[in-house]
Amino acid sequence: MGLILRFLFGILSFIVALIAIGIGYSKLDNVYRQKIFASILNKVSDPNDSAMMDLRCNQLLQHSNVKGHVLEIGTGTGINFPCLHNNTNIKSYTGIEPNVNMHQYFYNLIKQWNIPYEIRLLSNSATDMHEIESNSIDTIIMTFVLCSVPDPLPEKILLEAHRILKPDRNFIFFEHVVANSKTKPFTYRFQKIIEPLWKIINDGCQFKPITNYFDAMKNVYSQVQYEHSVMPVPVFFIKDAIKGKLVK
Ligand SMILES: C[S@@+](CC[C@H](N)C(=O)[O-])C[C@H]1O[C@@H](n2cnc3c(N)ncnc32)[C@H](O)[C@@H]1O
Repeated sequence: MGLILRFLFGILSFIVALIAIGIGYSKLDNVYRQKIFASILNKVSDPNDSAMMDLRCNQLLQHSNVKGHVLEIGTGTGINFPCLHNNTNIKSYTGIEPNVNMHQYFYNLIKQWNIPYEIRLLSNSATDMHEIESNSIDTIIMTFVLCSVPDPLPEKILLEAHRILKPDRNFIFFEHVVANSKTKPFTYRFQKIIEPLWKIINDGCQFKPITNYFDAMKNVYSQVQYEHSVMPVPVFFIKDAIKGKLVK
């Protein structure tokens, strides 16, 4: 009994500490928060995490899937580059990353390779990619981005992506999604309880029905395809994901 009480007290203290950290963190100004998020993301984006790199490189970013003039939305620290640096199908790479604190980590990561194609990194939001000409991109990549984009901006990003993509070309993505409330009610409820704190710690990331954004593109893109996938992570409430593609 004593052991159970101590365990429950430990859990309670942990939750209170997390909430305190979250509230303190939310009080920091936006610039500082983005800086801290970039530093955290750099620590957790591990190129040696074989399960996650297998998901990125072998399930989504195979060389045959990524070709020509490539654009990545929300590059973060450049963690997809281990899959891209030696892809001889790529002619150029443009990254879109509005959190400029990520840029140093990005350049630091990619400097280890002698990458043969042109690379540029822009700091605007993917809701407005005016520097990119219409019908000029062969492949768009996006991994784990839309959860941190507030509504209704994901729709703007998908429409802007449609503008810059060449006809018949692919926009490939891997995204976190909210758990299904019917098949995984416990996980769904847990996500909803933890969401306010999760949002603060993870730069606005929420547990959202991301598939709705892609379904809404059925009248815009010629094909909308996705399938559910399970993230190889030890944390039960961030396991739900989707993998798919939009074809212009
Ligand atoms: C969770 S991180 C994922 C980073 C990386 N793609 C990965 O797979 O690890 C989400 C990224 O999306 C970026 N982001 C948020 N809003 C964005 C927007 N409107 N346009 C482009 N990128 C955005 C964030 O700055 C952050 O780097």
